[in-house]
Amino acid sequence: MTPPHEDALRQQQPEHDYEFRDALIAGLTSTPKRIPSKYFYDGAGSKLFEQICALPEYYPTRTELALLRRHVSEITALFGADVEIVEFGAGAIEKIRPLLDVAERPLAYIPVDISGPYLRSVAAKLDAEYPDLLVRPVVADFTQSLPDTIFSDGARRIGFFPGSTIGNFEPHEAVQFLRQTAQLVRGGGLLIGVDLVKDPAILHAAYNDDIGVTAAFNKNLLVRANREGLANFDPSRFTHYAFYNPVAQRIEMYLMSSTAQRVTIAGRTLRFAEGEAIHTEWSQKYTVEGFRSLAASAGFNPRAVWCDSERLFSIHWLEAV
Ligand code: AVJ
Repeated sequence: MTPPHEDALRQQQPEHDYEFRDALIAGLTSTPKRIPSKYFYDGAGSKLFEQICALPEYYPTRTELALLRRHVSEITALFGADVEIVEFGAGAIEKIRPLLDVAERPLAYIPVDISGPYLRSVAAKLDAEYPDLLVRPVVADFTQSLPDTIFSDGARRIGFFPGSTIGNFEPHEAVQFLRQTAQLVRGGGLLIGVDLVKDPAILHAAYNDDIGVTAAFNKNLLVRANREGLANFDPSRFTHYAFYNPVAQRIEMYLMSSTAQRVTIAGRTLRFAEGEAIHTEWSQKYTVEGFRSLAASAGFNPRAVWCDSERLFSIHWLEAV
């Protein structure tokens, strides 16, 4: 782990103490009300997300992992030798492992995540497991553009963005992210997991699991606000509501106020009408061709694609020339 790089990045680190508070005030005083999905992932939220990944209804994680394992030789051959791999949103330790195991002399692994403590635990684990690998964690919001000082001079750059996290962006934001990433990894490429358009019943079940883990994950936004002393939500008076919008081709997730109520948020009293919704997440789905043309419009050269036989999930290799 190399401190100079971290120093270079410290200045673009968000102000953690005020960021969530300001986002709550801004989001809950706007119409419609909303809370950005990146705030799901505090310690408790990250644990709930791990539980989601293990649910029988939630096919993306296991499907992507199986694809990575099945095609690891082909994927790492496309990476080439002596690469530096930047992962956007660290934490998929079991997904990077097969790649590091088979890649030819990977030089560095650069996990970028907004959560410092989580990032450091992931980095320490990999540091111990791969003595020849330089593990260089970067605490930053990867939706902001990253400086290319995260890489060593002259290294071949690979981006890794698994889990279909790209789906949290609206398509125009996804293009912007892809455009800045194409610049960042120029000369190398991006390996990205993308969830696919499919039978709405399968999608619906994946975001409305039987035992209510996704509901708890969604409500953690309110619980977190209370825990951080920012609000006095009664989570039992909000319900989880997630559905597939077939026109926009995305899952939309909301917290619905089940009664008329007032909540104090950072000293302000806000009203929620009965049935009023707080928007908390988009999870955009793509067709294989739709995603390839999106990537091409952002300046990538879309190359290989891997899909499972049921066409639930896709992994794309996008070359950045
Ligand atoms: C981490 C954004 C890919 O959209 O499927 C899981 C988050 N939300 N269940 C997704 C999530 C509800 C997940 N991503």
